[in-house]
Amino acid sequence: MNTTGKFLPLGPLDLNWPLILQLDQMYFPRPWSSNDWELLDFSHHHLLSWELEGQTVGFALISFLSGDDTAHLLKICLVPGQRARGIAQDFWSEITHWLKGSGIEKVFLEVEEPNVRAIGFYQKVGFRELRRVKGYYSDGVNGLMMSLTL
Ligand SMILES: CC(C)(COP(=O)(O)OP(=O)(O)OC[C@H]1O[C@@H](n2cnc3c(N)ncnc32)[C@H](O)[C@@H]1OP(=O)(O)O)[C@@H](O)C(=O)NCCC(=O)NCCS
Repeated sequence: MNTTGKFLPLGPLDLNWPLILQLDQMYFPRPWSSNDWELLDFSHHHLLSWELEGQTVGFALISFLSGDDTAHLLKICLVPGQRARGIAQDFWSEITHWLKGSGIEKVFLEVEEPNVRAIGFYQKVGFRELRRVKGYYSDGVNGLMMSLTL
């Protein structure tokens, strides 16, 4: 298990909530509006942050219902200065540990086909391509569906 980063589940009442929304706006390829974030149902959405030396450097958003064995990874993002350093893998390793403890056995995601860095990361941590969907996104960009068995 990772010993340097800190994994924190977050909710809208947390002090870091505005920061996560800011990171989403600045660094996520398809950020959500503040309204999208406000409408999040925390009965089945789980927001997780990653802290290094007291700084929040990334977050992930995952959905699953209590009792489900399948989760959907909606977002994972690291600030640019912390990429390509194995930090995303540390964060993912904590996430998978937490998911397994929550009874999750399989994770699905969709990613834009041109996002080769994210696809490279997902492949590295064991995700496999399920299928490509032409014009999956509203602007016509193709999507790649991927899954991982934990
Ligand atoms: C997705 C994200 C969390 C991954 O973290 P990261 O630190 O960049 O990932 P890593 O560097 O560990 O892994 C990326 C892999 O893709 C590879 N890669 C990078 N550019 C590539 C390219 N142009 N073609 C093919 N592979 C590429 C890297 O070589 C690396 O693999 P390696 O470590 O075996 O060399 C991070 O890039 C991020 O926050 N991106 C912006 C948000 C985002 O796009 N999220 C996903 C949306 S679905």
